[in-house]
Amino acid sequence: MESMDYHSALALLEWQVELGASEAIGDAPVDRYALPSVQPRPARDPASRTAGTSAAPEPAAELVDPVAEARGAAAAAGSLEALRAAMAEYPHCDLRRGARNLVFSDGLPGARVMVVGEAPGREEDRAGRPFVGRAGQLLDRMLAAIGLGRSLDEAPVYIANVLPWRPPQNRDPRPEEIAMMQPFLERHIELAAPELLVVMGNISCQALLGRRGITRLRGTWSEAQGLPAMPMFHPAYLLRNPSAKRAAWADLLEVKARLGDG
Ligand code: URA
Repeated sequence: MESMDYHSALALLEWQVELGASEAIGDAPVDRYALPSVQPRPARDPASRTAGTSAAPEPAAELVDPVAEARGAAAAAGSLEALRAAMAEYPHCDLRRGARNLVFSDGLPGARVMVVGEAPGREEDRAGRPFVGRAGQLLDRMLAAIGLGRSLDEAPVYIANVLPWRPPQNRDPRPEEIAMMQPFLERHIELAAPELLVVMGNISCQALLGRRGITRLRGTWSEAQGLPAMPMFHPAYLLRNPSAKRAAWADLLEVKARLGDG
């Protein structure tokens, strides 16, 4: 079958269901995340092979280093818009194939505080904006409690994620996915130029602090890219564990106090 993008495949499937199809027709499931990201080359046109000349050998498949490519693309981006475009063109992270939207950022670039989350969920994937689902609404309330927010009435924040594409079924991002998107995150922080970072959850701590263990890390200032960084429980965790909100409140007060000093 000719390759088809996610949305066309979904539309086709919905149409078939409307016609009464009730079973998948393939004999074997296809793991599209396991398919190669580079389409196979079309077969050579036989007419272009001149009789008598020995065909030139196919060049060996190029070895690409996804992290090095990400580093180069990120370093070449001179603005947030250019960075967004470079991420949209970056072909090596398979998560992009199942995602509806690239979720880049929200809030005000240049804000004193940059919040770094993990990865978009379903709502964010649909909206193309980070933290718009239930966890995002809680994040907004938490930030508002110390006078910060995305709207113009509050002191602005800037919000981005370690990964700009939703992992399928909201699974945890894989180490190689984090590694290849990390250069983009680092450049993102450089270009947004906050005064301090709020690092939400274990995945973000892994990417920015090189460590996991949010229960131990939270509440103590750390450093990432030369900036003060406050690790905090992720709002999705707080929704599942309301008793941890007390600790989150203490961490927010730390952030507020640090801003007061500035
Ligand atoms: N969780 C995150 O870490 N980021 C989002 O954008 C949404 C939920």
